[in-house]
Amino acid sequence: MTENNENTNVQKSAPDRKPVIFSGVQPSGNLTIGNYLGAIKGWTDLQHENDCIFCVVDMHAITVRQDPSELRRHTYELLALYLAAGIDPEKCILFVQSHVPGHAQLSWVLGCYTMFGELSRMTQFKDKSKKNADNINAGLFTYPVLMAADILLYMTDLVPVGQDQKQHIEIARTIAGRFNGVYGDVFKIPEGFIPKTGAKIMSLSDPEKKMSKSDSDFGSVRILDSRDDIIRKFKKAVTDSDTVVRYAQGKSGINNLMNIYSCFTGKSLEQIEHEFSGQGYGAFKLAVGETVADALAPLQSEYHRIVSDKQYLEGIMKSGADSAGRIAARTLRKVYKKIGFVV
Ligand code: TYM
Repeated sequence: MTENNENTNVQKSAPDRKPVIFSGVQPSGNLTIGNYLGAIKGWTDLQHENDCIFCVVDMHAITVRQDPSELRRHTYELLALYLAAGIDPEKCILFVQSHVPGHAQLSWVLGCYTMFGELSRMTQFKDKSKKNADNINAGLFTYPVLMAADILLYMTDLVPVGQDQKQHIEIARTIAGRFNGVYGDVFKIPEGFIPKTGAKIMSLSDPEKKMSKSDSDFGSVRILDSRDDIIRKFKKAVTDSDTVVRYAQGKSGINNLMNIYSCFTGKSLEQIEHEFSGQGYGAFKLAVGETVADALAPLQSEYHRIVSDKQYLEGIMKSGADSAGRIAARTLRKVYKKIGFVV
């Protein structure tokens, strides 16, 4: 697992082939700054030197109940957010997962090379089963297989994600290795690419818990929150009873705010300690809130410009699905041949 966001020009595996990057986000609600810092922000750097494919993973989203019209709206909105964050559709393939049937097709095949015990050990499955006790469906259980299919269809080298996806990348590697062990060198074994800072942004109301899209309280700062809301949420952030801005054990609230501030400003933790020495938590929280609001403002205005242009978004979805579909069909054909299907 690569834990580095600096070397964005990844080692090429063949002389004429740029490294392939694949990642995705579920259109399951309002994205948080955790999604932004853990994933999307890093994608924008990777797009210059690599072949990048970014997906709106709507099929993953239905593992928990979604309102159909909301899901459709969130799908457009998420694509608009990718673009507003600076992902260039001329450089990257942007598409919606359900538009490329190869994902479901490969997922079935890979499911036959994935062990029940392996899926039972997935922490995200256990967490989501607790949260959705009335709907522990088979899709929730086989979720990592679909994610492996997403990644392996494109011969992906690197998967830029937050810390919480590490176990899913590991199982994708296991599945690919098992398949290759039987049929020869079919799949590229992907690596996770987890940023040094920002890989695990914690909730502002409970800094022991990951910030999450599904939390509705003050703990989650949304990418599209208003300036006032962002500042208010940071002002209310739970911290300890100390007053010194210092990164240390037992100060998870302050550590989290320092990480967030570091991600948005590029300053090191030492520089931040120095900048706020003698200034107490109040001034620091206000500075973090204002910095985050300022940093997100251009993205937000770009988003509002793009999101209402449905025709433009549909054009990107269509050409992305065509490009992704061609690559996916090639991989699938190879897989089908290997396993003995008549193609
Ligand atoms: P999802 O939609 O839950 O989250 C999208 C991305 O945001 C990251 N993330 C965070 N990073 C830092 N701090 C946080 N608090 C935080 N919360 C979320 C996630 O790690 C992720 O990178 N299974 C994936 C979607 C997926 C996918 C894929 C990703 C489906 N197929 C193939 C990569 C490759 C998911 O549920 O992400």
